[in-house]
Amino acid sequence: MPAKGTDVFLCRLDDLADGASRGFDPGRTGQDTVLLVRRGATIHGWRDACPHHGGTPMAWRKDAYLNAARDRIVCAAHGAQFDIETGVCTLGPCLGQRLQPVELTVTAAGNINIRLEGEEET
Ligand code: FES
Repeated sequence: MPAKGTDVFLCRLDDLADGASRGFDPGRTGQDTVLLVRRGATIHGWRDACPHHGGTPMAWRKDAYLNAARDRIVCAAHGAQFDIETGVCTLGPCLGQRLQPVELTVTAAGNINIRLEGEEET
């Protein structure tokens, strides 16, 4: 497992199409714990943990985190919807709660990295 405080490569910017979402397991836990959504040149990163039920993983299948309009993150468990930019739940059982952001960097070479500071030990 990577040490806390280290940057871990997730993917290249070019690997994430505009409007797409993708899950990652940077802590090598065996399931995706982080999700990215690309909107134009901006990458939004959130923990894959729904605030409704103690951090339930949200994708309905691998990398499927968005609604049909691709303008909200959706939790497959009970249908909560979250603003992609703020992480705030805008519809569903955890209205007003929010996703937890992750710290990302995009290098000049186009690599998207995550800072593992604050990752829980597993
Ligand atoms: S666990 Fe996500 S909406 Fe219920």
